[in-house]
Amino acid sequence: MTKTRLYSGMQPSADSLQIGNYIGALLNWKALQKTHDAFFSIVDLHAITVAQDPELLRTNTRRTAAQYIAAGIDPAESTLYVQSHVAAHAQLAWVLNTITGFGEASRMTQFKDKSQRHGADGTTVGLFTYPTLMAADILLYDAAIVPVGEDQRQHVELTRDLATRFNARFGETFVVPEVDIVKETAKIYDLQNPTAKMSKSAESHAGVIWLLDEPSVTAKKIMRAVTDADGGIVFDRENKPGVANLLTIYSVMAERTVQSLEDEYAGRGYGDLKKGLAEVVTGTFGPIRERVLELTNDPAELDRLLAQNADRAAAVADATLAKAYDRVGL
Ligand code: ADP
Ligand code: NA
Repeated sequence: MTKTRLYSGMQPSADSLQIGNYIGALLNWKALQKTHDAFFSIVDLHAITVAQDPELLRTNTRRTAAQYIAAGIDPAESTLYVQSHVAAHAQLAWVLNTITGFGEASRMTQFKDKSQRHGADGTTVGLFTYPTLMAADILLYDAAIVPVGEDQRQHVELTRDLATRFNARFGETFVVPEVDIVKETAKIYDLQNPTAKMSKSAESHAGVIWLLDEPSVTAKKIMRAVTDADGGIVFDRENKPGVANLLTIYSVMAERTVQSLEDEYAGRGYGDLKKGLAEVVTGTFGPIRERVLELTNDPAELDRLLAQNADRAAAVADATLAKAYDRVGL
C-alpha cells in the first residue's frame, strides 16, 4: 500500500529552534513520518523575503537541518531537503503567480501583518508572493495533507484554490491538498511572560528554551521561570499560567499526564517542580544538542546527506513541473 504524501516546512530563521517548535512541530512530524511519505523542507527561499545576512542564513539552514535530524526526522525514512536546492520551487511559483489574482493575494493576512511590520520600504514583492511559493512547495509533491498551524490555514486554502483553478483551466495536473490544521494540543508560553506564546522571534530571550542552549543555561532559565505567590502545584491556566506552562512542558517531555505530575508534586514547592522539569528537558535536549554539534562539525557529510535528499525531492518535483509547463504551453 502506498503511503499518503505529506509536506511541511520550517524557515531557517534562527540559529536554534525553541522548545515550542520541538513540541508543536517536530514531535508531530516525527510521529507522522512513520505513517506517511513525508517531505520536510527547510524553506530558505521563504527566509529571504525579509532582510537577511547571507552567511548567517547559510549557517542557520545547516543548523536547522541538523536539528531536524537530531530530533528524530530520519533522512532515510523522510525526504528532508533545502528548498533552494530544488529549482522547481521557484519555477512553479512563477507559473502560479500568473494565475493568482492581485486582489486575492492582497487578502492574505500574513502579508498584511508582515508588511505593516516592515513598512513600505522593507516590504518586498517577494513577501507579497510568499503564498504562491508555498503553494508551489505543496503542489510539486502531490501532497495530500499539509500539517500546519492555524496561522497557515489561509495559505493552504489559497493553494487549494490555485490547484483547482489550474486544473480547470489547463486540465487535471495537481492534487488538491487537504488543510490539516495541527490542533495545538500543547501550546508553550514564554517562561518570563507565561501568557505570551514562546517564539524564536521573542524580543527577550530570557524566557525562551532553546534546543541548542547548554544544559546549565536551560536549567537556569527554568529555575527562574515566573510562577505566582499562591504556592500550589495545580494546572490552572487562567489563574496560574506560569505553573500551568511548566506542567504542560513537563507532561509532554516526560510523556506523563498532568494529573500524575500534580500527584507527585502535591504539597511540594515550585523549586522541586522546576528542578524535576529541568532534569527532564536537559535529559532530552542534551543528547540532541550533542548530535547537532556532531552533524554541524562535519558540514561535508551533512551537505552530502542534504544533496542526496534534494535529488530525491527533485525527481518528484521535476516531473510535476514538466507536466505543469507542458499544460500551459511552455
Ligand atoms: P516561531 O514563533 O518560533 O518562529 P514558527 O511560527 O516559525 O515559530 O512556527 C514553527 C512551528 O512551531 C509551527 O508548527 C508552530 O505551530 C510551532 N510552534 C512555534 N511556537 C510554538 C509554541 N510556543 N507552542 C507550540 N507550538 C509552537
Ligand atoms: Na515516511
